[in-house]
Amino acid sequence: MKIAVVLGTRPEIIKMAPVIDEIRRRGLEFTLIHTGQHYDHEMSDQFFIDLELPSPHHNIGAGSGSHGEMTAEMLRGIEEVLAEEEPDIVMVQGDTNAVLAGALAAVKLHIPVGHVEAGLRSFDRTMPEEINRMVADACSKLYYVPTEESGINLLMEGADPDNVFITGNTVVDACLRNIEIASRSLEVLSGFQDDEKLVVLTLHRAENVDNPERLRSIIEAVLELREFRIVFPVHPRTRKNLEEQGLYRKLMEADHVSIHKPMGYLDFLLLLSNSFMILTDSGGLQEEAITFNVPCLTLRYNTERPETVDAGGNILVGADRDRIISTARKILEDPEFRDRMMEADNPYGDGHASERILDETIRLYREGRLGMEP
Ligand code: UD1
Ligand code: UDP
Repeated sequence: MKIAVVLGTRPEIIKMAPVIDEIRRRGLEFTLIHTGQHYDHEMSDQFFIDLELPSPHHNIGAGSGSHGEMTAEMLRGIEEVLAEEEPDIVMVQGDTNAVLAGALAAVKLHIPVGHVEAGLRSFDRTMPEEINRMVADACSKLYYVPTEESGINLLMEGADPDNVFITGNTVVDACLRNIEIASRSLEVLSGFQDDEKLVVLTLHRAENVDNPERLRSIIEAVLELREFRIVFPVHPRTRKNLEEQGLYRKLMEADHVSIHKPMGYLDFLLLLSNSFMILTDSGGLQEEAITFNVPCLTLRYNTERPETVDAGGNILVGADRDRIISTARKILEDPEFRDRMMEADNPYGDGHASERILDETIRLYREGRLGMEP
């Protein structure tokens, strides 16, 4: 069996790494296709180094540009590679443009698609990621869903229950495998005092950073929360917008804010696992926060990870300055409230998602059920 893995952005590299490790552990033939959507060293190559991944066999080089331009370039490039490589299955992960292009290119060539982290829904069609998830799921044959809830979303949309597998999320595999390695170098923590309350902030979602009012409101809250040490590795998209709005300088001047380039995975994992609280609009961070029992305030009004909110580890505070400030202060001033958030059960599994993904895929292949039917 030959597997093609398509990835293109930071979170896909991180969450596909355990799957690629498992493919290699089992000695299966595979080809790795990088769409090039993320291309800066610290958004892409650094993760191949940290996670000891093989270099991609193909790089489509479709970074930046509008959604249409980027997706078109990826579609053309992936189609060409798949026609040449003739894999038995194409695996995609998550909800980026790479997933959309990978799934669409494959299904048109009658190659079955396996979607890792299938079935997530924010029910907000203004998000580019929601469209990508829905299209990718419509093109997929195998659904590796992280939770029962995401499986139900797919069944409601008519997916064949025989092809929906609750595997857990590979983010837990990545966290558990790498936290020990990350803990071998404590350098990233050395710049902070023991009594500082570390807060990791990440921000890149289009609806926040491309909207000047929302971006300003979030940054005003950050500037106000002086009782914390706020560590902010800035996504390239966000940096550009902060500079344009004159906000980057204000953050640089704030004594309690530490601005960084995007961090490598190992440093970032260590930092987040040692944090008092997370402020983020990232999808992956909502999952990692609950994995490490760190309270999470999500800077959005909805989430495709409602399990984290239901479990009690995540609160949606939106981009509302006052709500961000008051909720962060409540976590600081009310230890029982924080304890309850930290006790939330992790809904994303036991760290063996990638094994289950490969088990189910191989089983279907052996049973002759991977092929496309009319
Ligand atoms: C993309 C995904 C988003 C995911 C995020 C992970 C889509 C629609 N969006 O958003 O779902 O959460 O990745 O981080 O697929 N840039 C650089 N260097 C890079 C990468 C990006 O400078 O290595 C800059 C460019 O100006 C680029 C902009 O960031 O135009 C946005 O990048 P893009 O890949 O379009 O979207 P992200 O915001 O990264
Ligand atoms: N991450 C990282 N360094 C950083 C910021 C994030 O390694 O400076 C990791 C983080 O641990 C998580 C992933 O990047 O696994 C999340 O990526 P991002 O927030 O860009 O995308 P999303 O999950 O929202 O799609």
